Amino acid sequence: MAELDPERIVRLELDCVVMLDQRRLPDEEFELECRSAAEVAEAIRSMAIRGAPAIGIAAAYGYALAAQRGEDLDEAYRVLADSRPTAVNLAWALGEIQADPSPERARRIHEDEVDRCRRMAAHAASLLAPRTRALTHCNTGGLATGGYGTALGALRTAWERGLLEHVLVDETRPRLQGRLTAWELSGLGIPFTVIADSAAAGLMAAGEVDCVLTGADRIAANGDTANKVGTYSIAVLAGHHSIPFYVVAPTTTIDPATEDGNGIPIEERAPTEVSDRFPARNPAFDVTPAELISAIVSEEGVHRAPYAFAAAVPA
Ligand code: MRU
Repeated sequence: MAELDPERIVRLELDCVVMLDQRRLPDEEFELECRSAAEVAEAIRSMAIRGAPAIGIAAAYGYALAAQRGEDLDEAYRVLADSRPTAVNLAWALGEIQADPSPERARRIHEDEVDRCRRMAAHAASLLAPRTRALTHCNTGGLATGGYGTALGALRTAWERGLLEHVLVDETRPRLQGRLTAWELSGLGIPFTVIADSAAAGLMAAGEVDCVLTGADRIAANGDTANKVGTYSIAVLAGHHSIPFYVVAPTTTIDPATEDGNGIPIEERAPTEVSDRFPARNPAFDVTPAELISAIVSEEGVHRAPYAFAAAVPA
């Protein structure tokens, strides 16, 4: 089984942060070198690296690089924090690395996120019955998390336990993150089929989906969850068809300071990503209300409603 090495996804070197450029996958495996905090911030903004835990890790490496290079650290913080607004992992990781901007601390943040993925995957896989046909949305694999994956990590563990039959991979518009999931599943040898996310309704009605697993970019204290745009409609569909809808995410994605989904900032990206010809809107995320979520699985275990996330995220 092809393992996506965490260091291949993103790493800190002496004079740069190196990342596998996700904009070029799956066609080309190109390593992008960022030589300042501003270049790391631009890589995050332009989605050379994306996915909530992965952008937190990249920001931590970017800040450690800035410290190494003697950059103005207030400016480094500002430019990295402003790169993308929705995933709370970014602010969390920057808070951690500010306290100790060493390469060792940045690498530890990376290792800890991958370790959380493995632990949450073990919890989430225990929710799946034998011969599960799962549906997933966006990309939650190693690319999005720095290694192993959240929802995709759970599917991977379920496959290793002999519980998983097939994965339906929602293709997401406009940035097509489903192809990244397809690339990862193909490397892992897990059977899958890519579908347009609007095809999910018909396939659920036809009885072809046993459960849905997605990741998250920010989870409010009451369990309302922001994730890739289109997740909310998948959750409504799952509810309508009585299909379990699971969110798999680390505690670093939980934001106890935000009471509910109304307080989650939703990134509006350039309209030209949707249409360069017609007027367009491009919200990159939507919020799934907690009542549509069957369980939220973190490295700490399986959380069920009523959700009341109050504990501080781990140091
Ligand atoms: O806009 P993106 O690609 O950075 O979105 C993040 C995601 O990959 C998804 O929303 C994902 O489900 C949560 S991050 C593991």
